[in-house]
Amino acid sequence: MATCWPEPIVSVQSLSQTGVPTVPNRYVKPAHQRPVFNTTQSDAGIEIPVLDMNDVWGKPEGLRLVRSACEEWGFFQMVNHGVTHSLMERVRGAWREFFELPLEEKRKYANSPDTYEGYGSRLGVVKDAKLDWSDYFFLNYLPSSIRNPSKWPSQPPKIRELIEKYGEEVRKLCERLTETLSESLGLKPNKLMQALGGGDKVGASLRTNFYPKCPQPQLTLGLSSHSDPGGITILLPDEKVAGLQVRRGDGWVTIKSVPNALIVNIGDQLQILSNGIYKSVEHQVIVNSGMERVSLAFFYNPRSDIPVGPIEELVTENRPALYKPIRFDEYRSLIRQKGPCGKNQVDSLLLTRL
Ligand code: OGA
Ligand code: NI
Repeated sequence: MATCWPEPIVSVQSLSQTGVPTVPNRYVKPAHQRPVFNTTQSDAGIEIPVLDMNDVWGKPEGLRLVRSACEEWGFFQMVNHGVTHSLMERVRGAWREFFELPLEEKRKYANSPDTYEGYGSRLGVVKDAKLDWSDYFFLNYLPSSIRNPSKWPSQPPKIRELIEKYGEEVRKLCERLTETLSESLGLKPNKLMQALGGGDKVGASLRTNFYPKCPQPQLTLGLSSHSDPGGITILLPDEKVAGLQVRRGDGWVTIKSVPNALIVNIGDQLQILSNGIYKSVEHQVIVNSGMERVSLAFFYNPRSDIPVGPIEELVTENRPALYKPIRFDEYRSLIRQKGPCGKNQVDSLLLTRL
């Protein structure tokens, strides 16, 4: 794989801070990809499900709620998820402070397309691609053997400790959620974890996204339409600024986040493992001219060196295996070359064209 970006990296935050009155051409999306701000769906008040996890954990009715959210939306919000609210606020605050540091300080952590670890401003190595209006910081978190402390920011002072504490709480939440998702598919509670490669072997990474103010938000996107490549994603959204949109038919629904909620979504690997019963739904991020936005995406992934294919019990005569197995490291490297591109990658594994 390439070791450098195809063009010099421009920090979108610095660009935004220069006060440019128009969006440079590199960020102007073709007309059919530009955002729609007030879709009919969101006007009609359609929203992704909100689940109170106290009504879900260990309750048969809860499993049905999870199943219908995953089948119908691929997304849901969780309240009473067990992650400490003040920790959520502090870790998001620490990242906000990180992005406020001078560019020279952040550049010390500049990332490359090999591992993505560190501070970056583009996804994918396709030359002349239209870029997204955001910067990010990407860290490997699990298995702990791949953690690289020299890639973790050291400013603001508390940030490393906060990342670690937050990561631990979210990891536990993902383990619990994996059992619930397994049962919601009619499988034994530990089946899905086994298929992901086992509790101490799964992978996880954290991407903090920073969406600067944008002079012409109608022409660009903070993050282009994509589905998440991994297992499940736990998103800590900005507490004040909305921006995440989820595909609903031909349109998009803007998520209104509930205070202290975490947003869960199904990734491509879970779509594959569930043999298409659960969908990794496309989503994108819109930006705005008045407020910057910060979000933390925790990606919980299968062990990277085993083939991931549909779980045997979910393959039947009426529902033959839909996807060919692939190792997650291979899958991820394909995604990393192209950057966000809708659902093309998972669709390319389909055995029968639907
Ligand atoms: C992502 C993502 C959404 C957001 O990082 O994959 O979809 O609201 N983020 O930042
Ligand atoms: Ni995503």
